[in-house]
Amino acid sequence: MYKLDLNQMTQDEFLTQYWQKKPVVIRQGFKDFVDPISMDEFAGIAMEETVQSRLLSKKDGQWQAEFGPFESYGHLGERDWSLVIQALDNFSEEAAELIEPFRFLPHWRLDDLMASFATPGGSVGPHVDNYDVFICQGSGKRHWRVGHRGQYEEVIAHEALLHVAPFEALIDVTLEAGDILYIPPGYPHEGVALEPSMSFSIGFRANSAISLLSGFADHLIDNDLGGKLLEDSSRQSTTNSGEVSSADYASLKQQLQNLLDDDQVFGNFIGGFLTTAKHELDLMPSEEPFERDEVRELLGIHGIKRLGGLRAFYFEETINEGICFINGERVSFVADIAPAVKLLCNNLTVMPDELAAWKNNEDFISLMVKLLDLGYWFWVEAE
Ligand code: SIN
Ligand code: CO
Repeated sequence: MYKLDLNQMTQDEFLTQYWQKKPVVIRQGFKDFVDPISMDEFAGIAMEETVQSRLLSKKDGQWQAEFGPFESYGHLGERDWSLVIQALDNFSEEAAELIEPFRFLPHWRLDDLMASFATPGGSVGPHVDNYDVFICQGSGKRHWRVGHRGQYEEVIAHEALLHVAPFEALIDVTLEAGDILYIPPGYPHEGVALEPSMSFSIGFRANSAISLLSGFADHLIDNDLGGKLLEDSSRQSTTNSGEVSSADYASLKQQLQNLLDDDQVFGNFIGGFLTTAKHELDLMPSEEPFERDEVRELLGIHGIKRLGGLRAFYFEETINEGICFINGERVSFVADIAPAVKLLCNNLTVMPDELAAWKNNEDFISLMVKLLDLGYWFWVEAE
């Protein structure tokens, strides 16, 4: 279990002073930090087909990028390269534990755990992210520079690498194991390894209004909900045929607004949107469907754990109507079991004592059978 120490700051103080506002170094945010995964295991994961990985290197001042899965690293030498894995939480239960201390932020904001291994001189280059990110230094040291928020000239260092022009440093530090660097969106930054080193970035996605609007339009089209024609049955004659009247303008806007104001439609869209995984899940549906009796018995003995990277959320507004969203789908359940569903959505692991009140509830068993069959939750040893 990783325990986050915000250096005398409460979580609320961190949120008020820094979150989305300015970068900060949190020295020894994780005391006695040990990498959740060895460098060898990390390199092995980047050899898997379903994993999104990149190798970045600089040769004679020229950036190079290669994309995984990789077969070997022997050709790379001892310097100036880094290996980056996206959504490591989907593939390593141990690494996913690093996300847990950040549950003081709602997980619908979470994107993924990205990690990198770098040899001395290795870097991904100077860039700007559209993310809030906590960069947790693992073993080895890295030199980090963070610049002021602003407009920076983009540099296409390689067709797959969007960098920014050199920037003046606001933060210029060497991070050691357990140190954390928080960077809000828009601040240019660059980390360069001083030694072979690991780094773990917990990224929080910031959706743009336009991505929501475009996702909503797709949802309406996919569900045949947006085809209603704009109406003007109470029209009166005009003498200015070239004019869009103020009333027409307001009516067009209102009819679009009505789509957004329909909480049934928008709620279903946003629930699916926020729980859709961006990176492939390491799904292993059960080979044989679970039996209800078996699930009832095992719930008294074992804990249940959510698959790494699986997104499951409920809305404060509708949980008591028996609605939640899991992996892009709306899931309905008998409203009585809402407290148990909250446990599943709010925690990575739920232990048998927490489920004591639910393990004999037939509606909860039905839901668990479904989630276990899909491979969304799996059994773990009780602590
Ligand atoms: C890295 O791990 O090297 C890159 C992290 C980042 O810049 O977000
Ligand atoms: Co970055």
